[in-house]
Amino acid sequence: MLKNIVCIGAGYVGGPTMAVIADRCPEYTVTVVDINAARIEAWNSGNLPIYEPGLEEVVRRCRGRNLFYSGDIAGAIRQADVIFVSVNTPTKTFGTGAGKAADLQYLEKTARSIIKYAESDKIVVEKSTLPVRTAQALGRVLEANGRGLKFRIVSNPEFLAEGTAIRDLNAPDRVLIGGLDADAIETVASIYAHWVPREKIITTNLWSSELTKLVSNALLAQRVSSVNSISALCEKTGADIDEVTAAAGLDSRIGKKFLKAGIGFGGSCFKKDILNLVYLCGYYGLPEVAAYWEQVVKMNDFQAKRFVGKMLSSMFNTVADKRIAVFGFAFKADTGDTRESPAIAVTRQLLEEHALVRICDPKAIENARLDLAETEGDVSFFTDPYLAAEGTHAIALLTDWQEFRNLDYRKLYDMMEKPAFIFDGRNLLDAGMLFDIGFNVYPIGKKERTHF
Ligand code: NAD
Ligand code: UGA
Repeated sequence: MLKNIVCIGAGYVGGPTMAVIADRCPEYTVTVVDINAARIEAWNSGNLPIYEPGLEEVVRRCRGRNLFYSGDIAGAIRQADVIFVSVNTPTKTFGTGAGKAADLQYLEKTARSIIKYAESDKIVVEKSTLPVRTAQALGRVLEANGRGLKFRIVSNPEFLAEGTAIRDLNAPDRVLIGGLDADAIETVASIYAHWVPREKIITTNLWSSELTKLVSNALLAQRVSSVNSISALCEKTGADIDEVTAAAGLDSRIGKKFLKAGIGFGGSCFKKDILNLVYLCGYYGLPEVAAYWEQVVKMNDFQAKRFVGKMLSSMFNTVADKRIAVFGFAFKADTGDTRESPAIAVTRQLLEEHALVRICDPKAIENARLDLAETEGDVSFFTDPYLAAEGTHAIALLTDWQEFRNLDYRKLYDMMEKPAFIFDGRNLLDAGMLFDIGFNVYPIGKKERTHF
């Protein structure tokens, strides 16, 4: 009978996912392990290593009861009935496939820990996002244990989004489980069945499950790039991107969600997973398919460059020695995560133009400092937007934090150099109101409002 669940990898996925499983399945013991001792220590402290609305309450409820964060990888593996593997799978930076393929070294090292410490048969669950057919390689490593131990592999990709992770985990659109062994699939399904309706627990073959995760992210990112490409056309033609997407989205075949134009998608996964898909298509001899998906990433890079280009041309073709407040550095609202945030590229381009950049974010300042530690230029960090904006020539809004919507823009205007500019990279603000205050306002994919 299933008693002990272990998760290897205490990151953005492993930490919250296991907290919710522990919360929903009080009869199981759930242990999350990691090679990063500082991360484990943070999970056991009052200051969790990631910010996620609702996470702290769940962790506080379960930690020490049936949820444990531990550095004892060997002990946890020995006790485990089911092992979720939730380690990072970043883009390879070296050798064959550098810049596109997934770096699977952390996955393989995990598999080797499992065979080193396991003393009984286990179900091993791929929770990390992996190239299609990884389970085959993983199976071969696990089979080589030399002690006759049996490991059954199940693919169970995670679809949570940061900022809404707890909500997504508690009420997922679907749970996907792929495998070859019906018994192992049912064991994993029975965990989720504690709170997810059975009709939302979908089972497929292993390869479909692995590929579905890459495809889901590719389709989502493609929607964002499609809308952003049209935002450029809107700016040239007088059409308004919010009006276009609202009207197009009313077609139930298109749907309303995920059609918000902005400065481009960020986050640790969209770019890496599409590049992984591009690599796989090339590997399997499908260059046209690879080129099709690669364009989604190219369009994303174009959107950030286009945004900085607009800042530059609007501010009389120079931002050198001008103070610019960057409002928001996280890749989206409600997270402190800055991985692949478009704010990094925008800030670097502004610094290359010799702007003096003042970054303000409610949760991401520590990560912003790390991201820019090796970037040359004059950059400073604030949590108070009014301090950040003091004496600036422009505000560039890069993250859709709701609190930026509710600021006193009259007060901000009064403390800025004139003419004062706002570049709203998320179409978050009321452009008419800002214009009436005196700002020159540049939203994305809609009419700019200037006093010139
Ligand atoms: P992360 O970097 O936050 O966490 C991964 C953790 O694994 C790290 O703490 C690292 O120290 C640990 N680790 C690496 N090798 C290890 C080993 N050999 N033994 C023990 N621990 C080890 O990554 P993440 O954001 O949680 O993503 C994990 C996976 O989930 C990735 O494949 C990612 O694509 C996928 N995913 C992420 C999200 C997301 O929102 N972040 C959503 C869905 C899927
Ligand atoms: C995304 C997916 O939504 C999750 O299903 C998936 O599990 C996860 O990637 C992953 O595999 O890591 P996440 O990156 O956390 O989740 O956040 P999203 O809400 O998808 O936003 C991604 C980026 O797209 C953000 O920068 C966001 O600002 C941008 N975006 C999103 C837009 O610009 N417009 C939109 O309409 C939606």
